[in-house]
Amino acid sequence: MRLAKFGVCAGRCKPNAVQGLRSGAVGSAGLPSCRHRAQPATQGILGAAPQLTAALTVSSLTQDLAPLDIGHRLLALTQLLRDHAELWRPLPFVELQAPWQLRHPELTSWLDGLSDGQLADPNQRWLEQSPPWLADLAQRILALSALPWLARPPLGALGAVAMRRIRGRKVEQMAGFCAAVLPQMAAEPGETVDWCSGKGHLGRTLVRQTGAPLLALELDPELVRVGQQQCDHLGLRARFACADVLDPATAQWLHPGQWVVALHACGDLHAALLRAAIERQVRGVALAPCCYNRIAAAEGRALSLLGRAAHLDLTATDLDLIHREPVVANGTDWQRAQQEQAWRLGFDLLQRQVTGSPTYRTMPNFPRPWLRLGFGDFCRSFAALDDLQLPPSLDLAPWEQLGWQRLAQVRRLELVRGLFRPAVEAWLVLDRAQLLVEAGFQVQVGQFCARTASPRNALIVAERPGGRDRQS
Ligand SMILES: C[S@@+](CC[C@H](N)C(=O)[O-])C[C@H]1O[C@@H](n2cnc3c(N)ncnc32)[C@H](O)[C@@H]1O
Repeated sequence: MRLAKFGVCAGRCKPNAVQGLRSGAVGSAGLPSCRHRAQPATQGILGAAPQLTAALTVSSLTQDLAPLDIGHRLLALTQLLRDHAELWRPLPFVELQAPWQLRHPELTSWLDGLSDGQLADPNQRWLEQSPPWLADLAQRILALSALPWLARPPLGALGAVAMRRIRGRKVEQMAGFCAAVLPQMAAEPGETVDWCSGKGHLGRTLVRQTGAPLLALELDPELVRVGQQQCDHLGLRARFACADVLDPATAQWLHPGQWVVALHACGDLHAALLRAAIERQVRGVALAPCCYNRIAAAEGRALSLLGRAAHLDLTATDLDLIHREPVVANGTDWQRAQQEQAWRLGFDLLQRQVTGSPTYRTMPNFPRPWLRLGFGDFCRSFAALDDLQLPPSLDLAPWEQLGWQRLAQVRRLELVRGLFRPAVEAWLVLDRAQLLVEAGFQVQVGQFCARTASPRNALIVAERPGGRDRQS
């Protein structure tokens, strides 16, 4: 098994025009002073970490953060997720009692004692008073899920012209992505392929800096048209092709010598990229994955040999942990979401009673205006939609109250489950990185932007050893 260093520059920092870095300089900690060196975990992690760090001490985190290689970190996360599966796999919304509750009565009563204000604390200070084993576990999750910063985005250096059609959080994403990959790409520019390019903002920004030609692959013909127009306007050597990357024939666009980049390519789209890049032996890959739940085949959720051998077998429900983060507790959106959940939970208890079935029944979507009905009318409309016969004389008011009570319980149990959100995401990112390691690439994994700019802020940068020399 080939293993690549995690968060440590594999000696590829070279003098280059973009950053003006020098190899061999020694930083204050006695480590090579390069941008690729791991940053302390507190500077950002996947998942809930920015909040979590507030409740934990910096020194305790950095102690745990000896740089691990990708394969070892993947195995350690597998072990952690397996050992604690009962804490994160069962859905509190579905199970009336979490399987661990009987064995951890102290955790249940501590959760019950949390006020609504504590629950809503975005800094998760509730963790400070949690049973010590839970705080330790949270700290371990944080340490194993932490990704170093790949680069500090030098926004100014990217040039106002290339970025001028890009707005808001996208600018921050683009700046971080480019800062992380430009040193390698600019050293020996080869054609840049923007995979699922949209209008090609990423590819355009990169080739403005490297001078390389751009090939943009995108399904939507309108985005292809606009992207081509923008590049032509700037006088760039760019081809935009209308292509379905899920069609295996699309791999024919890839060649040795190219860099393939993708910003937020969803599940199957980034799996196709990895397969094609490996098969066609491209020079480098820079991928910020997203939407892991958009993978058609269940066995496709783990892509690497090591990941498959781990048999973690993540289900669609497991992946929802990443993609369904709780809404921050403020404003009318939050209140509406709470009402919907309480009513759904109330209805669920009602249907269990009426049908005599102890199990949760998946509920269909319903028209939003139903939330403006009273609870009784909501239940009757919902029951009709769901083919459930409700006794006409049934007093429905108590079920609303039960729904709110159950929501309070679910929110508390979700706190425990949510602690594992960064671990599940880190596992998926490292699995993708490991696939490239197994294919012989030198791989780095890290953050390219803050979570406030995008919750999917992990970037995998992989390059064939020997770069262009090997291909010519
Ligand atoms: C989340 S967007 C990312 C766009 C761009 N990379 C960015 O960050 O601005 C995903 C893009 O993938 C494109 N896409 C979806 N399915 C595709 C397919 N099968 N083949 C090629 N492109 C596809 C969409 O049209 C969309 O532009």
